Amino acid sequence: MISNQEPIQKNNQELSHIVTDNSAAIGVFDSGVGGLSIAKCIAQQLPHENIIYIADSLHAPYGEKSVDFIIERVNTISKLLISQGVKAIVIACNTATVNAIEQLRAQVTVPIIGVEPAVKPAAKQSISKKVAILATQATSENRRFKDLIDLHHNGAQVLIQPCPGLVEFIEQGKQHSPACHELLREYIRPLIKQGIDTLVLGCTHYPFVQHQISAIAGSQVNIIETAAPVTQQLTKILAEKSLNSFSKRQGKHQFFSSLMTSEQEDVFNILWQKPLTLKQL
Ligand code: DGL
Repeated sequence: MISNQEPIQKNNQELSHIVTDNSAAIGVFDSGVGGLSIAKCIAQQLPHENIIYIADSLHAPYGEKSVDFIIERVNTISKLLISQGVKAIVIACNTATVNAIEQLRAQVTVPIIGVEPAVKPAAKQSISKKVAILATQATSENRRFKDLIDLHHNGAQVLIQPCPGLVEFIEQGKQHSPACHELLREYIRPLIKQGIDTLVLGCTHYPFVQHQISAIAGSQVNIIETAAPVTQQLTKILAEKSLNSFSKRQGKHQFFSSLMTSEQEDVFNILWQKPLTLKQL
């Protein structure tokens, strides 16, 4: 059921306050529903942690927006999460991470965990020494992302494939449509022709079309995504800061979106695979 009653309340919390409360929630956000692929992994691996998830679906896709716009959204949402007293923030979005994590870390004291395309493991695992990264336009053009490739290509050729239009299909719950399948074919087939054996999902929305990608790429292509390493990094940071939950109870999961419609809530329910209540951001 959609609730209009409880929009997220902003407290006037300092950006520089230090959170010491183990029961505080972990804040997770993305331009939309894609970050649920990360939040799901966190919920599975850290079942006693509370999670506040924010989807900025009203402003998705970030991948086709300017850097200034992405930075403004990242700062606004992070401040909102900090005002809720979160003990850590996971930027469950490659586009937001590569474009905005540095300036965010310079402003806040809460630990910030980002998501970046898994260039290093892909280049290490590739036998043909040809890997491809599917990413948004804004990630594909980003300097930090290119530096990541320069640092970790390990002698492999790295092909970057921007995928405009793909996030919109997933946001609208149309990832199984023939049009989405056709778009995926258009992006993936030329990469296979060039001999890649490893494909990186460089956007957190893309795990939700992993089956379709796999069907097009074939079983010889290894597909890599980042939910598990990001969860590991979060676990490590919480342990280092003695912030892990001591609770024995199942964590509470709250979901907010800047675009609250019944269609959006249906998409959330399908991707989360458990009934949930979506609230207006
Ligand atoms: N899910 C996001 C990412 O990981 C962004 C998608 C978008 O809004 O363009 O890049």
